[in-house]
Amino acid sequence: MLSKKLEDAINKQINAELWSAYLYLSMSTHFAHEGLPGFANWYEIQYKEEQDHAMKFMNYMVAKDSKVLLKPIEKVDTSWESVLAAFEETLKHEKVVTALINDIVAIAREEKDFATDNMLQWFVKEQVEEEDSVQTIIDALRLIDGKGYGVYMLDKELGQRKYIPISTSATE
Ligand code: FEO
Repeated sequence: MLSKKLEDAINKQINAELWSAYLYLSMSTHFAHEGLPGFANWYEIQYKEEQDHAMKFMNYMVAKDSKVLLKPIEKVDTSWESVLAAFEETLKHEKVVTALINDIVAIAREEKDFATDNMLQWFVKEQVEEEDSVQTIIDALRLIDGKGYGVYMLDKELGQRKYIPISTSATE
């Protein structure tokens, strides 16, 4: 069983992952409405990945005989003034998620809970990839000045992204 402090922190993280999923679903529907199906596709995949992240944490809680407590999901924005604004918000949010995960690692280490520390390392690596992929898109958007034919071409490219489910197992 996890300590109460770790249980609370992971329950908070599950909520943060599900909120992220909701935010990215909102961005996906926004871009679908704006006639940008590639950006909509990219965010729909982000939405699915965030659900996987939440499931991975939930499966870990179950494996450790700890109680998952699903809290209300706060509301999210429903429109963005530009694709660049949405991706900048995404990067800002992912940095917050990274900090939350680092905080849980710190608790696990303080408590000498090496199993939880080990499980969290998957998320530590995942956050490097999450931030990097968003930064790459921001760089491309800045190069093309966030508009015109460049956005059209980037939309085509992001439309190629495929959803690859991660293992949501507590031990992989
Ligand atoms: Fe689950 Fe995008 O962090």
